[in-house]
Amino acid sequence: MSLSCTAIEPSRFREALGHYASGITVVTSQLGTEPLGFTCQSFYSVSMSPPLVSFSVMSSSASYPKIREAGRFAVNVLSGEQVGISNQFARRGADKWQGIDWRSSPLGNPLISDSLLWLDCEIHAEYPAGDHLIVIGEVKALDLHPVSLSRPLLYFKGQYCDVSGHPALPV
Ligand SMILES: Cc1cc2nc3c(=O)[nH]c(=O)nc-3n(C[C@H](O)[C@H](O)[C@H](O)COP(=O)(O)O)c2cc1C
Repeated sequence: MSLSCTAIEPSRFREALGHYASGITVVTSQLGTEPLGFTCQSFYSVSMSPPLVSFSVMSSSASYPKIREAGRFAVNVLSGEQVGISNQFARRGADKWQGIDWRSSPLGNPLISDSLLWLDCEIHAEYPAGDHLIVIGEVKALDLHPVSLSRPLLYFKGQYCDVSGHPALPV
């Protein structure tokens, strides 16, 4: 394994970054009567005061232009039982909402039932970055699912994983 100054192959970049484990979310919104959503790994918290979060979305996203028009979005953090939901919202063209149980958030965004956590956001800023857009949202409301379903869905090396939810022991 070595550092290289030559151009980085996209497949190598993807493989390397896959070693950074993360949770999985579905970013949702609603424009008129149309619910919108896509599976999103690139979510992270940005600022405490004001409370800001961010995600990156592909410039070619079909959903994001409509989310931008709505001006708001919810982040649904998925639990270990929601692999099927993650796969469903990663499929283009399909009816992503078929069989999905959801309700409206205070801001009018779809909240997917049994998610671990939801955050209700207004779009605060957007920055172009390569083939993606970085979107910043200001959090206006949030809630956690009851503790019984507290295992997160994780993504590591291109695969979904689950964890026990126990903190790692200090060495
Ligand atoms: C595990 C996983 C993580 C993903 N993370 C992102 C992401 O962070 N940003 C993004 O734009 N797409 C991400 N995608 C891909 C989108 O979910 C997928 O391209 C989706 O079809 C986009 O839908 P849209 O065109 O309606 O926006 C991810 C897909 C999977 C399976």
